[in-house]
Amino acid sequence: MKLCMIGTGYVGLVSGVCFSDLGNDVICVDKDKNKILLLQNGKIPIYEPGLTELMVKNYKNKKLKFSNDLKKSVKESDIIFICVGTPTKKKSISADLRQVYNAVKEVAKSINKFKIIVTKSTVPVTTGDKIEKILSKKNNKNKFSVVSNPEFLREGEAIRDFIYPDRIVVGSNDKKSSKILKNLYNPLISKGAQFLLTQRRAAELIKYASNSFLATKITFINELANLCEKTNINIEDISIGIGLDKRIGGRFLRAGPAYGGSCFPKDTKAIISTANKFKANLSLVKSVIKSNNNRSKLLLNRVSDILNKKIKNKKITFLGVTFKANTDDMRDSSSLIMIPFLSKKGAIIKYYDPTGEKKELNKIKNVSYENSIKKAVKNSDLVILHTEWNDFKSINFKNLSKKKKFIIYDMRNIYSPEKINKQGLKYFSIGR
Ligand code: UDX
Repeated sequence: MKLCMIGTGYVGLVSGVCFSDLGNDVICVDKDKNKILLLQNGKIPIYEPGLTELMVKNYKNKKLKFSNDLKKSVKESDIIFICVGTPTKKKSISADLRQVYNAVKEVAKSINKFKIIVTKSTVPVTTGDKIEKILSKKNNKNKFSVVSNPEFLREGEAIRDFIYPDRIVVGSNDKKSSKILKNLYNPLISKGAQFLLTQRRAAELIKYASNSFLATKITFINELANLCEKTNINIEDISIGIGLDKRIGGRFLRAGPAYGGSCFPKDTKAIISTANKFKANLSLVKSVIKSNNNRSKLLLNRVSDILNKKIKNKKITFLGVTFKANTDDMRDSSSLIMIPFLSKKGAIIKYYDPTGEKKELNKIKNVSYENSIKKAVKNSDLVILHTEWNDFKSINFKNLSKKKKFIIYDMRNIYSPEKINKQGLKYFSIGR
């Protein structure tokens, strides 16, 4: 099939590359000329394991193209995927849909034969209805169909999540486009992926409901970790103990710092905005957001306790600053709350991240980047393990702390407390 992905951000690029690998002819379009040039030169603007190789392979095979010309690309394609960003509006909790509607207005001018317009961007309930209205101003209704097909890709695992999805959700109000979309996903369905067909509005809500539920699950285990710390119980036992119940399930029960990233914080807010609009009260999601916002403060109190309330002039190392491992994404990372706070209190902070220096931390006083774990922990008083990169899973702390013993605060429970204590180092972790 001939596909056009509008937007070469995370969603558009990963989906476009993977669709081309399944044998479709894909054009990825973006307004940003530099980005398109970069892609045409075999480079990707994001960090995603395996993506460059798959992209180069399909670009060379001519199954994948990159273009700035939206109108031409739309004309040449049968299915148009809207993959532009839907960030939170400034000073509001609702999603900013300007990029979606701008793209749709362009698409509206280029419909030369029957097209399916698919929203892959995360969009609030009824966005599909509005898109339909915009398109019908310039086109006859039998010339297009608007479908919702949310993505559930995790950064760092995106290719695997695309190829082996738990489910594919397609929200469509007409049979013709449902059939075409099912056909498009057939290579994945035949390998065992569940295909769920719903009304368009339901598919839009499934995306927000999934992310809100996962955010709730994480927040629940984080709050239980607080209780475990007070009652001398190991949170890992609780995660396993409840996770073995199939009704609960064991995944997304790892206690840690506040959840972050490009989706959970944004989508939990946007679903509340939608609920407010329809006068429904999502009180549970509201309290999840509140609890998650408090979490960084709570962990910072712990840091202060660990340092006997003396943060000033203390040398603190962050190992990993992104919102999780296997990504270079800093969006809503809890390190962006913790590092500025500690810097304000007079700490001297060094950090190392496998994805390099971060511009978000450049201007903060007394914060510097080191290009190795060894350099980052040298002379440190406290080492904070902030993300769970494999690079941090077998650090020889004994060696690194020979000249000066440091305290370890493992916010991802990577290490066993007994083993680290045996090495003569003070060790703190989450919920145990
Ligand atoms: C998420 C969803 O998983 C994906 O389906 C959606 O389409 C996009 O948003 P992503 O933001 O890449 O993906 O990250 P994810 O792996 O879900 O983690 C989100 C946050 O939760 C991270 O801060 C992570 O550290 C945290 N997390 C996750 C935990 O603290 N504990 C867990 O058990 C799992």
